[in-house]
Amino acid sequence: MPTADAEVHLDPTALAAQMAEDVRDGLTHRPRTLPPKYFYDARGSELFEQITRLADYYPTRTERAILDAHAQEIAEESGAETLVELGSGTSEKTRLLLRALTGAGTLRRFVPFDVDPAVLEEAGAAVAQEFPDLAVQPVVGDFERHLRELPRHPRRLLAFLGSTIGNLDPAQRAAFLDDVRASLVPGSAFLLGTDLVKSPDRLVAAYDDTEGVTAAFNKNVLRVLNRELGADFDLEAFAHRAVWDPENEWIEMRLESLTAQRVRVDALALEVELAEGEQVRTEISSKFRRQGIADDLAAAGLRMTRWWTDPDEDFALSLSVPV
Ligand code: SAH
Ligand code: TRP
Repeated sequence: MPTADAEVHLDPTALAAQMAEDVRDGLTHRPRTLPPKYFYDARGSELFEQITRLADYYPTRTERAILDAHAQEIAEESGAETLVELGSGTSEKTRLLLRALTGAGTLRRFVPFDVDPAVLEEAGAAVAQEFPDLAVQPVVGDFERHLRELPRHPRRLLAFLGSTIGNLDPAQRAAFLDDVRASLVPGSAFLLGTDLVKSPDRLVAAYDDTEGVTAAFNKNVLRVLNRELGADFDLEAFAHRAVWDPENEWIEMRLESLTAQRVRVDALALEVELAEGEQVRTEISSKFRRQGIADDLAAAGLRMTRWWTDPDEDFALSLSVPV
């Protein structure tokens, strides 16, 4: 079955308008922030793919091992006809699920959903080739804004892997889980990948690798703003920082201005003065505990029915259902 053309909920004009608003807001308030979804243009998605292969970045291979061990159970429990994957990226690990679900004979449709059309197109074509009997229906959208527009298929498994949920702050996470709940009809399930709290050294190493790939990924947001909003960020004038916040239990990614500098953002007619050593927060990556996840899910009307981890309890997958 050929891949359908992507259904677009987020056209380039809407994305540009939202980017302009987010960037103005983030750069004019203190502490300064830049919103993470703009990491992922074609180059950003390629850099993230490199991150997933780094020795220091344990989450991807650990989540893959958990999926490998339990895909069969997930397939049997969900009996899914449709698999929707949010923030799907390359959908590389998802193939384990697709194999189990097609093996079980229930799956008819795969809906990868991502903000980056480039990665979506490539992943959609690769999956369609490997699974010729599956209807592959990619959707370009923002999972913080367009979840309620997805068709509410019965027997749907909604997967959100890679601990991307950790990149939402607590208020965004609660709103997101409400949207997830609203999009699930009875008989559907939600499969969530979450990175777990562990020693700060391992966490910091995962977000500040020795090869500098994460630094390049973090700085890519500046490159995107230079291109999309006519900004003049000098990438050499910023350093990547990854800091563990023990109170919030999240890693904070920041870009530190190495000199006192003025940055122009033409499309916003904005000039921003950055002091030497001033830090711009670009991303958080929250780390979780089982009870915290169960509580967040429960607050949204979802009941956790299964919990799987690796032997070291570095990462977890959970399955939940609407109550
Ligand atoms: N699921 C993959 C990729 C994780 S990286 C994995 O586990 O390896 C996060 C992915 O989410 C990227 O592909 C990025 O483009 C996408 N993404 C980030 N913010 C998004 C948003 N607001 N809406 C939709 N997709 C988003
Ligand atoms: N979801 C990934 C995570 O939190 C995203 C990510 C990995 C990331 N490395 C990063 C985001 C570095 C910003 C910077 O682990």
